[in-house]
Amino acid sequence: MARYAIRLEELTKDYPIGFWRSRPVRALDHVSLDVEPGEVLGYLGPNGAGKTTTLKLLMQLVYPTSGRAEILGRPAGDVEAKRRLGYLPELPYFYDNLTAEELLVYFGGLFGLAPAVARTRASILLDRVGLGAERRRRLRHYSKGMLQRVGIAQALVNDPEVVFLDEPMSGLDPVGRRDTRELIRSLRDEGRTVFFSSHILSDAEALCTRVAIMVQGRLVSTGRLADLAFEVQGWELVVSGGDGGALASLGLDAVTTAVDGRYVVELPVDRPPDQVLPELSRLHVQVVSLTPRHESLEDYFMRLVARRQAPAA
Ligand SMILES: Nc1ncnc2c1ncn2[C@@H]1O[C@H](COP(=O)(O)OP(=O)(O)OP(=O)(O)O)[C@@H](O)[C@H]1O
Ligand SMILES: [Mg+2]
Repeated sequence: MARYAIRLEELTKDYPIGFWRSRPVRALDHVSLDVEPGEVLGYLGPNGAGKTTTLKLLMQLVYPTSGRAEILGRPAGDVEAKRRLGYLPELPYFYDNLTAEELLVYFGGLFGLAPAVARTRASILLDRVGLGAERRRRLRHYSKGMLQRVGIAQALVNDPEVVFLDEPMSGLDPVGRRDTRELIRSLRDEGRTVFFSSHILSDAEALCTRVAIMVQGRLVSTGRLADLAFEVQGWELVVSGGDGGALASLGLDAVTTAVDGRYVVELPVDRPPDQVLPELSRLHVQVVSLTPRHESLEDYFMRLVARRQAPAA
């Protein structure tokens, strides 16, 4: 078995732009990254960071300017590796006069599945992505979120060892996002390697063994999300059993009343919970929930970018 499920070595991609194609845009700049078998890697970065370009290079839909990409120990584009991977493109486009079931049977056929096997696989996968009841509807009648689910089912049709998902949560409502998170978790539990891109930090929380963070074509950090230095910007505290006056006496601002005598309090960084909670308990105020507010992925990028642009004097 290959040591790495996915390996990027100094991967670089310039897109020629302009009428004379003389001004290349560097979409990816010497990116090196190893993904172990069984990892769920969140490939995160803001719009234009180079996520889709990386996935296209891995799928050999575009070719690198320099560097190389490997999947399961074989060069990107290798037929044997392709048989063992699944791919959800960023903007999946399917023949919309097919039904979801027909589409999956068709893709199963491309992977050499016998028709009966392909039909069984299609039905299991459509159930798995929550489209079992809609399997006989034509795709042109599907919503964006439903098409996204079909795309995920399509990526799993060959029972892949490595699954590449480009923005799998895009176009999904909160229930769809939760379902997709559950699905990715189950792919992990089955021992598959998952490489998914997102520009939303919370998509990666509680799901990824590791994240890689891209900014402007460069890999700026990798590690466990918990180990990356996301700044805590405060806490949101929901309490009950007190009144606005009691809370005001503690000098807590931004107190809003929720339903049923609950109050939402924004704790700033200079009033951490371990200071405030004992005072609340003295006033017989109960804590319903306490949630840290981390900086967003965007804030994190901005900080990294600012740091790079202004090196320490
Ligand atoms: N075919 C192309 N021709 C020219 N430039 C391109 C092409 N595809 C991408 N780019 C440029 O390469 C950079 C990276 O784009 P890419 O689509 O990989 O980013 P992304 O991280 O997937 O962004 P998003 O979150 O918006 O999907 C961008 O500056 C983009 O404008
Ligand atoms: Mg993209």
